[in-house]
Amino acid sequence: MEQITQLSAAQLMQLEADHGAHNYHPLPVVLSKGQGVYVWDVDGKQYFDFLSAYSAVNQGHCHPHIIQALTSQAQTLTLTSRAFYNDKLGPYEQFITRLFGYDRVLPMNTGVEGGETAIKLCRKWGYEIKGIPENQARIIFAGGNFWGRTLAAISSSTDPESKVGFGPYMPGYDIIPYNDITALEKALQDPNVAGFMVEPIQGEAGVVVPDEGYLTRVRELCSQHRVLFIADEVQTGIARTGKMTCCDHENVKPDILILGKALSGGVLPVSAILTSDEVMLCIKPGQHGSTFGGNPLACAVAQAALEVVVNENLAENARIMGEMFRQEIRDNLIGKSPLVAEVRGKGLLNAIVINDTPDSKTAWNICLKLAENGLLAKPTHGNIIRFAPPLVINKEQLRESLAIIINTIKGM
Ligand SMILES: Cc1ncc(COP(=O)(O)O)c(C=O)c1O
Repeated sequence: MEQITQLSAAQLMQLEADHGAHNYHPLPVVLSKGQGVYVWDVDGKQYFDFLSAYSAVNQGHCHPHIIQALTSQAQTLTLTSRAFYNDKLGPYEQFITRLFGYDRVLPMNTGVEGGETAIKLCRKWGYEIKGIPENQARIIFAGGNFWGRTLAAISSSTDPESKVGFGPYMPGYDIIPYNDITALEKALQDPNVAGFMVEPIQGEAGVVVPDEGYLTRVRELCSQHRVLFIADEVQTGIARTGKMTCCDHENVKPDILILGKALSGGVLPVSAILTSDEVMLCIKPGQHGSTFGGNPLACAVAQAALEVVVNENLAENARIMGEMFRQEIRDNLIGKSPLVAEVRGKGLLNAIVINDTPDSKTAWNICLKLAENGLLAKPTHGNIIRFAPPLVINKEQLRESLAIIINTIKGM
């Protein structure tokens, strides 16, 4: 059989084009190795990874503590299903609930499953505790949201690209503008509303940061109207924005917290839904689950991934490095390059807005040039480039990366 590892980058890309679904449009870079903030392509070229697998690799590629937990657990026990108990789930559940300050956790795999689970829990709570009449529960979402590609997720989407052509859609949803407290107040007048699900910063929409105080008002209004505040922190959680969760910036505690991505340091799909006894205990045996959710391999990896975040103080590093990133971009590009209109973000979840229309090729071309110069980033929504390196990045590495970004953009 042909040795796959000896194929060239062009051949490897062709194989994907010929045999895979065309549901992604990747940058033409074929990666084969990662360590810390760096990845290497099949030709041995080194890059700074400024996407971190959409914030899944917060702890850096192949973090030794996480890989140690993975390999040691993989040689012991990987999956039992929840038909039986396993010796990793209980200790992990105790660890994560204490860390985030919730009564209970429900372990799932992908982020979108986290969202689905949160909505199921919310509906069940709505019927059993709040007393909403059967099948009448409503969930409010914010326009511009992104929480995955399942039918339940795209039903709440306002992005035609992910939504159109896949109907019929999930009923019981209301969409209001993001960062709009008046709209939320109005939507909450309906007594059948069970929950409001929202990202504290909208990642896929282009790192859209709401006004200060927004999350505080969301918390107050949800409490006032007896509606569950569901925070989708799949992208913003686990230290990405400079605090353990993005809601921590306003000292706000959602009723349901959804985590994913970096919960495994990018090693496995691991997600978690954290909530109170009152909400979680609405679900009884047989009403929700997943073959892989809570498997011992995932539990060992997730615990190690969280230990890295805490022990290495990654939230604080993200805060400091993030401030430096935005300051340098402001000092060197805003008002100095006609291409850059804005820089925004929190911690190490940042984006620059390119002074061009969303359907232009400028941002894509900048990303191609950045890759050529040794830094990987990807446009989101056409004219926005997200910069989200692993949180283990140090000052020197950030300085080097900033020089690449600033020089590349100035040179275009
Ligand atoms: C905020 C948010 N929620 C949920 C998801 C879905 O996660 P997954 O792709 O693991 O299903 C994403 C993915 O980008 C996300 O950004």
